[in-house]
Amino acid sequence: MVGILVKLKNITPDTLVSEKKVKKNINEPNKEAKLVALQSIGYPFLCNLVENPKIEIFDKELFELYAQEQWEGCIVDEGSFLFDQKLLPDYAFKIVKAHPDNSKITDNTSILLIEVQESLEIKHINTNIQMEDIIGQERAKTKCKIIMKYLKEPDKFKEWAPRNVLFYGTPGTGKTMLAKSLSNELKVPLFLVKATSLIGEHVGDGARQIHELFEMASASAPSVIFIDEMDAIGLDRKYQSLRGDVSEVVNALLTEMDGIDHHKGVVTIGATNNPHLLDFAIRSRFEEEIKFTLPDIKERLKILELYTETMPIKADINLDKLVKCTKGMSGRDLKERILKVALHKAIYEDKDSVTWEHMKYALKQHKTKQNEPKNMFA
Ligand SMILES: Nc1ncnc2c1ncn2[C@@H]1O[C@H](COP(=O)(O)OP(=O)(O)O)[C@@H](O)[C@H]1O
Ligand SMILES: [Mg+2]
Repeated sequence: MVGILVKLKNITPDTLVSEKKVKKNINEPNKEAKLVALQSIGYPFLCNLVENPKIEIFDKELFELYAQEQWEGCIVDEGSFLFDQKLLPDYAFKIVKAHPDNSKITDNTSILLIEVQESLEIKHINTNIQMEDIIGQERAKTKCKIIMKYLKEPDKFKEWAPRNVLFYGTPGTGKTMLAKSLSNELKVPLFLVKATSLIGEHVGDGARQIHELFEMASASAPSVIFIDEMDAIGLDRKYQSLRGDVSEVVNALLTEMDGIDHHKGVVTIGATNNPHLLDFAIRSRFEEEIKFTLPDIKERLKILELYTETMPIKADINLDKLVKCTKGMSGRDLKERILKVALHKAIYEDKDSVTWEHMKYALKQHKTKQNEPKNMFA
């Protein structure tokens, strides 16, 4: 790193460009890149002599060879750029996905050019959530562990491989949290997308984004696709008149789920709060549905213990008593509606601990909120 900084200070323009173009690294990682997904960006600047050409690939294998040859040895980091050095010198490609991140292109690397829209967010999540931090939901955690075993040793499962699973249940019970913990624990690429980000602005965008998502996952198999808030794209046909593009997206999803080569080891996980809104054909594609339930009394206690520990001021409260007053609340309710409200109240009052008075205040607020008439779409 220091080396680069020094170099930047006494650069001649040429060294800067070549340094950036072929980033043969200082702390060179030895990892081989399995997959690199690129998005075409264009020239670093425009002048009226050149225009940004529109790039279209007509032969994927040919493009891969072309790309491997010129970028072999380059280090790929998600979010950074590669510059073309052949046909369109200095034309930039953004690295949308690299697996593993910070690895080196070889002649074995799959290189894809995709047409991602701004809206396709394949999240690179930085989190330290572990699966064990999720209290309860044992069936879902067990399923994830089975999937992890499968991805490690696909051959062991023969035709009995886990393929896809649907997590469903009350909001705030840990579905998204589980997805995040997977990004920490999986040793294979995870494509974590929010279903809403798969719907583009124009007709055809959604179908294309879904296709690209599955294409990337196959190219880097074994891998996992986690589609959160699934009902946004898998909407039942009877609601589809509300949104014209939905049936196109539903069909694309069905095509991809059916077409995926499972021998390669791609597992799809969907999550939704409203499984009954899902299109029946999509719902039936999942081999297993796992319900996320509200925490029981023991689990509520564990959740309260987990989060009171991380409070910035100490919590001077009887958790056993609090547990009894929080029946029917989700993990999110406990954390955001009770503990957080009580903590904020204590901080507001300049107290150095959170007391039962603060909890009483939070419980009362929550109750009032619950009694408000429900929004019909909530
Ligand atoms: N089972 C649980 N264990 C620990 N924390 C939980 C649990 N369920 C929910 N939470 C807390 O509530 C937050 C919101 O949960 P989330 O995973 O987004 O719910 P969902 O996706 O099921 O609607 C989590 O980030 C976490 O802080
Ligand atoms: Mg969620």
